[in-house]
Amino acid sequence: MTETKTSNRPRETRSGIIGRPFDRIDGPLKVRGDATYAYENTLEGTAFGYILGAAVAKGRIAEIDTAEAERAPAVLLVMTHRNAPAQPDFGPAVTPTVPEVFTRARPALNSERVRYYDEPVALVVAETFEAARAAAGLIKVRYDEEPGLYDLSGHVADAYAPKRTNAGFETDSVIGDFESAFAAAPVKVDATYRTPFEHHNPMEPHATLAAWSGNELTIHTSAQTLANFRAGVASTLRIPPERVRIISPFIGGGFGSKLIAHADTILAALAAQVLQRPVKIALTRQQMFANAGHRAEMIQQVRLSADTDGRLTGIAHDVWSATSSFEEYCEQTAVFGRSLYAAPNRVTRHRLVPLDINRGEWMRSPGEAPGMLAFECAMDELAERLGLDPIELRIRNEPVQDPERGVPFSTRNLVACMEEGARRFGWERRNPTPGRAREGRKFIGYGMAAAIRPNYIGAATARVAIDGDGRVTARLDMTDIGTGTYTILTQIAADSLGVPISSIKVELGDSRFPRTAGSGGSWGAASAGSALHNACNVLRERILEAAQSSEASPLCGANAAQASFADGEISVGQRSASLADLVRRIAPDGFEAEGSVAAGAATPSYKAYSQHSYGAHFAEVAVDCDTGEIRMRRMLAVMGAGRILNPKTARSQIIGGMTWGIGAALMEQTVLDRRYGHFVNHDLAEYHVPINGDVPEMEVVFLEEHDDKANPFGAKGIGELGICGAGAAVANAIYNATGVRVRDFPITLDKVLPALPVIAI
Ligand code: MOS
Repeated sequence: MTETKTSNRPRETRSGIIGRPFDRIDGPLKVRGDATYAYENTLEGTAFGYILGAAVAKGRIAEIDTAEAERAPAVLLVMTHRNAPAQPDFGPAVTPTVPEVFTRARPALNSERVRYYDEPVALVVAETFEAARAAAGLIKVRYDEEPGLYDLSGHVADAYAPKRTNAGFETDSVIGDFESAFAAAPVKVDATYRTPFEHHNPMEPHATLAAWSGNELTIHTSAQTLANFRAGVASTLRIPPERVRIISPFIGGGFGSKLIAHADTILAALAAQVLQRPVKIALTRQQMFANAGHRAEMIQQVRLSADTDGRLTGIAHDVWSATSSFEEYCEQTAVFGRSLYAAPNRVTRHRLVPLDINRGEWMRSPGEAPGMLAFECAMDELAERLGLDPIELRIRNEPVQDPERGVPFSTRNLVACMEEGARRFGWERRNPTPGRAREGRKFIGYGMAAAIRPNYIGAATARVAIDGDGRVTARLDMTDIGTGTYTILTQIAADSLGVPISSIKVELGDSRFPRTAGSGGSWGAASAGSALHNACNVLRERILEAAQSSEASPLCGANAAQASFADGEISVGQRSASLADLVRRIAPDGFEAEGSVAAGAATPSYKAYSQHSYGAHFAEVAVDCDTGEIRMRRMLAVMGAGRILNPKTARSQIIGGMTWGIGAALMEQTVLDRRYGHFVNHDLAEYHVPINGDVPEMEVVFLEEHDDKANPFGAKGIGELGICGAGAAVANAIYNATGVRVRDFPITLDKVLPALPVIAI
């Protein structure tokens, strides 16, 4: 359900197309199986690869015997570090600039060194997948194993401060004198939370079909950002990016795990080059756990100090995170707190402990997902100590401007989200004393948490063309990772040009199209959408210019400044013409235009404002008095995220994020074996995610908002907002139900049960 409430009057759209809950343009293709995913592509002569992973986490390949595999039926190639085409060295653990993080060379099979468990040590290519996999089992590898480091908590004292966090944020921020404020405060919280390794598991695994034609490489793969893949492949293969074409029109989920090319892509390209045949490789689900990124294990200490009225005098958020010994990744876990609540004394710090594991990567809502899980629980703990309602505590600490940057917020409706959510959820029915509300032998609890997520804008260009029949085609190398990009871009183009959505064809996922920032960081809709919006405006100008000056035009000599595009017509004063007729008459070949947006500059004043989307999460849980079993009963999210382009696809984004919140609070955890350094539960049987039966009734409400500082159409990112704080609302509800505060995520029943109040039968 989607409803709106006035807080910031929206502009009328030109056509009313933006903001309508259109079904997904690509929905029928997906239902019919006509949306082709990377591994479903087949070219004449395609061969199949299978990757063999290392059986140790650290050491050297002392001996690798591939003779038997090479003799196995239908085998075409066995590639190891001995015969793989030359690639650059892996390079330094710290990448010099943020863009290079995405585009640096990441070679595979280029060394006898093993750096993490299940790192590729061989690739077998055969006529069939089965033959390749069977032959991989015939390779004998002897390792010189070395002792590795796999334990974060035992090495916190050795942690180092990186030069910056992910996305280029300052590692630390210090304002005022936190330690003195904390020492002097009458009310305080000092709590340490632990979050485990987590893995994103898109339904579509990482998969690539690579084919060479002369020295041109074409790669069908599953990518969130085509430009990154192109650059990463080019630097790894040491060829110019112009010779690499990436095609990725449909993606079965990414969640950050497809922002850079992985071993399937690099090895398919190399093997296809060696064999001069197309080669297809997919990571197995098990291989994805070691080879496609993860969210690192973290320890977070949150310290809050307040006066007796509940005004924060100090906020300190310290994060220790696992990272990889060979490539640094520092999730920006405490960064959100620099913009969330007012307090005169503040500290955020990020520290890293290098382990002998693969690098962490971006996983849905890097930073906020683990950071708000901890921090918004600490706020709940502080509210209880103060005897204040958790919403009231947050309202009392609402800042008038960004507390660390000292600039105004573009829009910020956090308080409105909390108040509207409280009203809808029936927050007044919450018993503030934990463990008091019961239904039979179940404890019932309510919890809430705030949500905040930055509104990023990445550089993007779009090309739009109208043909002599009035059909509009928009092309960008943007991707639709299941989020609804095709649909909202279609709406933006239709709105800008005043034509029905049936006149628009949006083509995505080909690196031959103009470059965008792709899908990631919740920047996709705003960045690609702004570029397309600008391209449509240029197209309108071109059409008008020609219409005014062409004698074949019914609008010849009209004043273009007064023109409007609506209902498939251009009108100037009393005169109007059908757009299709007009174009046919004055330009039978049609018109074409490009439009762009620069990074962080969708509006002239973008950087002068603190730009975020906001929300409030509410959760109700039931906890079994006897077993500690936790069941979700309902969730509500009220979001203030600028203009909502399509309430249907937006709602899907939010409920997907809320479901991740349940996973982070209750289920998700990858167990790293501290002896051998491998992820033990590396499949979907053992790695638990919420399934339908775990997910309660979810309600999503969007406040009416238009952020004119964000971009020309006033929208902000929402892809990650739904997860931000959602898990904390669940954890806070469990506390309210039981009085048991578990700070070690996920909150499984074994952690709750020993501390549950005993209820007489
Ligand atoms: Mo997102 S984790 O930047 O795809």
